[in-house]
Amino acid sequence: MKGKWLSMIGALAIGISLASGGGGEAAASEKYKNIVNVAHRGASGYAPEHTMASYALGEKMHGDYIEIDLQMTKDGKLIAMHDESVDRTTNGKGLVRDYTLDQIKKLDAGSWFNEKYPQYAVQGYEGLKVPTLEEIFTKFGKNNAYYIETKSPEVYPGMEKELLRLVNKYHINKDKLLIQSFSTPSLKIVHDLDPSLHLVQLLSYSSNAVITDEQISDIKQYAEAIGPNYTYLSRDYVQKVISSGLGIHPYTVNDKETMKKLIDWGVTGMFTNFPNLLEEVKKGK
Ligand code: G3P
Ligand code: CA
Repeated sequence: MKGKWLSMIGALAIGISLASGGGGEAAASEKYKNIVNVAHRGASGYAPEHTMASYALGEKMHGDYIEIDLQMTKDGKLIAMHDESVDRTTNGKGLVRDYTLDQIKKLDAGSWFNEKYPQYAVQGYEGLKVPTLEEIFTKFGKNNAYYIETKSPEVYPGMEKELLRLVNKYHINKDKLLIQSFSTPSLKIVHDLDPSLHLVQLLSYSSNAVITDEQISDIKQYAEAIGPNYTYLSRDYVQKVISSGLGIHPYTVNDKETMKKLIDWGVTGMFTNFPNLLEEVKKGK
């Protein structure tokens, strides 16, 4: 997604110019417009996460990226699922790594959502299947924007190689692809396999977020942005990251007030389960 990525860099530059006092209303509105809207597990506030229905809704609701968490089956297939276990998001029990793809495909990945969120229940969600990465690439195409996370890479040796094999097999537009992970070793494997890929280092804070110059410098060796949890961020933190030239995409922001605050602090995008809300914020609503 050269276009979108460059527009993110543009938003980043605008963030810096606003922080230094220039810009006025037009620049502020430009800054809002350029915020990268990541449909987190699809539009997972409204549909069962990591199903084709959730991804399609994310697109409809103006998500710029489909966010995909990867797990790997016993027979080495990459599937979209957040947890290592199938328990929370299907009617099955146990670990993904103990299931073959055929067995995973027998699970119902939608009914749990209707039970948990009756206000958003849709009959068509019942019986939805867990998608493979290949199926997602096939359905949404090579020019879609994907934001793919290597989950639990220590459990699935080789998952990075398989991910890149599929990216190449399906001719995925690498300018519209972001690969993210909490695992620095996993990102470095990806970077070594293909230095042209755009990477995002995820971070998790449990108290006031601090990032050192050394950390920033290390991350810049392989990644172009960071993705911290938003809860413990501050304006100073965001500005420090932005000034370094890294992008910053906090997760997972589900209310408009927090979205606006983070944009005013200078973030360049964010993950949300409700991409329609971020779209409204971007339009000044
Ligand atoms: O990938 C950004 C965010 O999704 C990280 O947290 O646990 O939702 O994958 P998690
Ligand atoms: Ca994720």
